[in-house]
Amino acid sequence: MENKVTKRIGVMYFSPTNTTAKICKAIASGMGEEVPEYLNITKPDFREKLISNPETVLKGIDHLIIGAPVYTGKLPSQVIECLNALKGKGKKAG
Ligand SMILES: Cc1cc2nc3c(=O)[nH]c(=O)nc-3n(C[C@H](O)[C@H](O)[C@H](O)COP(=O)(O)O)c2cc1C
Repeated sequence: MENKVTKRIGVMYFSPTNTTAKICKAIASGMGEEVPEYLNITKPDFREKLISNPETVLKGIDHLIIGAPVYTGKLPSQVIECLNALKGKGKKAG
């Protein structure tokens, strides 16, 4: 594919009913990555792991796609906690 991204793509999603997850996966696929690294922050144990050690969890990921649903105009607080834990250090996010 002409516009294939060769860097390692991660997909971080909060998706209790799976719509956000499907959209994020489609975006990764459109970027040429059929098997991205999935970071499912819907699950409390994974959120805890990410928040306590974000650098290890994100190691090797060059481009992170983040998806979350909006409830009554706001992001779920669990998602905001995860976003606050991330340090991009110049990496791309979409
Ligand atoms: C209580 C509730 C409130 C919602 N509020 C909004 C909203 O303000 N804006 C919006 O665009 N979608 C809203 N939605 C739709 C959700 O964002 C949508 O269902 C989302 O795709 C669910 O994601 P998921 O399938 O990944 O869990 C709301 C859904 C629920 C259940």
